[in-house]
Amino acid sequence: MGKQSEASRARHVAIIMDGNGRWAKKRALPRAIGHQRGVEAVRELVRNVGGMGLDCLTLYAFSSENWKRPDEEVDDLMNLMRKFIKSDLPEFVANDVRLKIIGDWQGLAPDIVAMLEDALEQTSGGSNTLAVALNYGSQNEIARAAAKAAAIGDVTPEAIAAHLDTADLPPLDLLIRTSGEVRLSNFLLWQSAYAEMLFVDTLWPDFKPAHLQEALDNFAQRERRFGGR
Ligand code: FPP
Repeated sequence: MGKQSEASRARHVAIIMDGNGRWAKKRALPRAIGHQRGVEAVRELVRNVGGMGLDCLTLYAFSSENWKRPDEEVDDLMNLMRKFIKSDLPEFVANDVRLKIIGDWQGLAPDIVAMLEDALEQTSGGSNTLAVALNYGSQNEIARAAAKAAAIGDVTPEAIAAHLDTADLPPLDLLIRTSGEVRLSNFLLWQSAYAEMLFVDTLWPDFKPAHLQEALDNFAQRERRFGGR
């Protein structure tokens, strides 16, 4: 099955990209190589997602808890981020991709913040959104949104949702986690309220565009009731 009918089409898919470390360990390679291959998987996915009918793909790249990893690994991840933005930005622009960052990304290193600001500006006209979660924690995002809603005296679900980092994105349809772990790890907790969940055993570096297409086909078969019957 390829393109889905409008009713069952997923517009917004989010992925918890997990398993880079285990992918490397299985091959007796350094974790850094696993992360490198993880970036390659991201690149291949972004290159091929155009024909899958999505409006938005959201990727969990660095959580606010990932700072607890050894300094060397955090440095590796930040350097991969720098390289990725530099090398892939022209492709985003050429392919009509709008980059969006969710999370407390202003807290990253100043040079990365500057690169991201430039990338956001250069891609602002794109029509397919690639949202990357950086220094992201869902509870923190909800607390920030609730504080803004309280400041205007309107603490309703609608007002909180309107102040989430994802306020301008379509509702989340499908959340995928790779590597066999079955938990949300502080990712899109609010947005997942009615999302379908898919947990796959594939380690992130092995996750190919065909795996995403398979997940979308699986999604199209599910009956969503949003609390009704
Ligand atoms: C999980 O693997 C993955 C991460 C910590 C973050 C994902 C990061 C990337 C794919 C690279 C950076 C992305 C971009 C967009 C530049 P893990 O180390 O937790 O794996 P493990 O659970 O097997 O140890």
